[in-house]
Amino acid sequence: MDAILIPSHNLTLKNIMTIQAVLIPGDGIGPEVSAAVCRIFAAAKVDIQWLRHDAGLAAVQGGSKSTLPESTLAAIREHRVALKGPCTTPVGTGFSSVNVALRKTLGLYGAVRPIRSLAGVTTRFENVDLVVVRENTEGLYAGIENEITPGVVTSLKVATELASRRIAEFAFQYANDRGRKKISVFHKANIMKMSDGLFIRCAKEVSQKWLGKIHYEELIIDAACMRLVQDPTRFDVILMENLYGDIVSDLAAGLIGGLGVAPGANFGDEYAVFEAVHGSAPDIAGKGIANPLSLLMSGVMMLNHLAVTRDLPKLKIIGDHIRRAYDRALQDGEKTGDIGGTLSTEQFADAVIKRLPA
Ligand code: NAI
Repeated sequence: MDAILIPSHNLTLKNIMTIQAVLIPGDGIGPEVSAAVCRIFAAAKVDIQWLRHDAGLAAVQGGSKSTLPESTLAAIREHRVALKGPCTTPVGTGFSSVNVALRKTLGLYGAVRPIRSLAGVTTRFENVDLVVVRENTEGLYAGIENEITPGVVTSLKVATELASRRIAEFAFQYANDRGRKKISVFHKANIMKMSDGLFIRCAKEVSQKWLGKIHYEELIIDAACMRLVQDPTRFDVILMENLYGDIVSDLAAGLIGGLGVAPGANFGDEYAVFEAVHGSAPDIAGKGIANPLSLLMSGVMMLNHLAVTRDLPKLKIIGDHIRRAYDRALQDGEKTGDIGGTLSTEQFADAVIKRLPA
C-alpha cells in the first residue's frame, strides 16, 4: 500500500493504521493463554484489532458443522496472519486434525520453531539457540491410511520433489536472513531410500547455491537425536520432513524448559499462522495454571513478521519490549508451575505487564 502523508503530524497512514489479525483461541487451555496474550498485547500498546474465529472443538460447540469453518479460513485469507491456540484432535479415532487441515488448505508449508535458552529457566543446558524447520504438508501426515484386511493397515508416506525442494529453499533463505550459519538435515534415507532419499537429494542440491555462506550436513535421525540431547549447542538450523520435525521440535522444547516456552509459526507464500507448539493440555485445562509464554512468544514472532512484511518497524520495537519484559519476569523468578514457579496464567501475565515500559 502506498503511504499517505498526514501533513500536520508528519505521520503516514501506513504507520498509524490498526493491524487486523485473526485470533483462534482453540480448545482446552487455548482460551486461557489467548486471553493472557491479548491482555499483554493491549498493555504493550500493540495497535491491533483481533478478529476472533473458532476452529476445532470450539467451532463445533459454537454451532459450526465443521471443525474448520469456511468463515475462519476466509478471515485468514483476507487478513493474511493469524495467532492460533491449540486445537484438540482425538487419538486413534474421530475427526482428523484441524491443525493439519489448516496447514494444507492455506499452503503453510514451512513450520518454524525457534528454541532458545531462557535465563531463569533451569535446564541441563545453557546457550541453546537453534531453529527447527519442518515440512508441514506431506510425509506421513498425508493421512492416506487403509485397512487392507482386518488386522492389516497401511499408512503412506508421501514425498514430492516440489515440497522437498520448496522447504529446503525456505530453510536456507530463513537461515540466511537471520545470520545463521549451518543447516543439519535429519533423515532416515538409509531405510526409506526413496522418500527420505528424495528429501535429502533436494536439500543437498539447494545447499549448493549457498556454498561458502551456510554449512550443510546430513545426519541419520536416530544418532542425530542422541547428539541433540548430548549437546544441543552444536546445532543451528535443523531441517526435517513432517513427522520427524513434529517429534524433534517437542524434544528440542524439552531442552529449554518444555512445551510452555517454545513458540511456533507456519509460513506459506501468502499466509502465516503463528501458534503455540503445545496442545490443548486437557489435564490442566480450566485450572488457570497454563503457561501463556509459548503463545506470547508466537505473538512476538507475528509482530516481527508484520514489521517486515508490512514495513511497520514500530511493531518490531514493541515486540522487543514484550520479549524483554518476559525475559525479566523469568529472571526475577516469576514463573508458572510447568517451569518451576507458582504463578497462575493471569499472575504471569501481570508480571510481564509490570515490566513493560510505561
Ligand atoms: P499437550 O501439549 O497438550 O500436553 C502435554 C503436556 O504438557 C501435558 O502434561 C500438559 O499439561 C503440558 N503442557 C502443554 N502446554 C502447556 C502449557 N502452556 N503450560 C503448562 N503445561 C503445558 O499434548 P497432548 O496431551 O499430547 O495433546 C493434547 C491435545 O492437544 C491432543 O488432542 C492433541 O492432538 C492436541 N495438540 C494440538 C496441537 C496444536 O493445536 N498445534 C499440538 C499438539 C497437540
